[in-house]
Amino acid sequence: MKAYLEEIAVQIKDMGAVEALTFLSQKFAGQITFSTSFGWEDQVITDLIFANDLPIKVFTLETGRLFPETYYVWNRTLENYQKPIHAYHPDEAALEAMVSKKGPNSFYESVENRKECCAIRKIVPLKRALQGNKCWVTGIRAEQSLNRTDMSNLEWDEENQLIKFHPIFYWSLDEVKAYIKKNNIVYNTLHDKGFPSIGCSPCTRAVQEGEDFRAGRWWWEDQSKKECGLHATK
Ligand code: ADX
Ligand code: SF4
Repeated sequence: MKAYLEEIAVQIKDMGAVEALTFLSQKFAGQITFSTSFGWEDQVITDLIFANDLPIKVFTLETGRLFPETYYVWNRTLENYQKPIHAYHPDEAALEAMVSKKGPNSFYESVENRKECCAIRKIVPLKRALQGNKCWVTGIRAEQSLNRTDMSNLEWDEENQLIKFHPIFYWSLDEVKAYIKKNNIVYNTLHDKGFPSIGCSPCTRAVQEGEDFRAGRWWWEDQSKKECGLHATK
């Protein structure tokens, strides 16, 4: 796999985001998919895909605990582009069993409970969304955390057995903001209120000036445990 990945890395090396997405959508025709959480990085990629009519399936993991602001962006995005955004919901029986036994906020009680909730609401639905695909596109950027600085824009995902591509991996936050502004793209207003990274509402809060991008995610947990498992390599 390494040689194959390196070959693709060389082919896309000098390409911009749209060009690389176009190239990969042809190479992996019908087997390439983009996950959006409606953060501004994801809104840029959604625009690149929809405005250029790229054959890349767009999906979101509807955990049931997203912010009202996120649902608003989702709806506006549908209205603006008139293209489908596939929603993957948690398995009903698993969710009912967890919430019946542990209540709606079990994730604050232990890391195990938090991981159980993330598994039911995100990971299992993610596996369904990725099934049959060879390339998974995400909105990850190098700047977002220390772990992410070590990654590259193209990687092999051992867990899901596919290639991951992060089209705006090397963009700065200012570049992301400038693109949003120039193209008049709807974005999550929580970004203007101290939320650089936006996940589920009970598990995300604003960060203070100078704090890490991801400091507001699962803030009550030990730093080393703050993984939801979506991006196993990060
Ligand atoms: S997370 O691992 O902490 O939750 P983060 O919020 O940084 O991830 O987002 C990184 C990328 O993961 C996003 O650009 C998007 O591709 C994907 N992602 C995160 N949350 C979701 C979600 N609820 N639905 C779909 N994709 C998501
Ligand atoms: Fe559950 Fe919080 Fe994980 Fe969302 S981020 S799935 S609410 S534990």
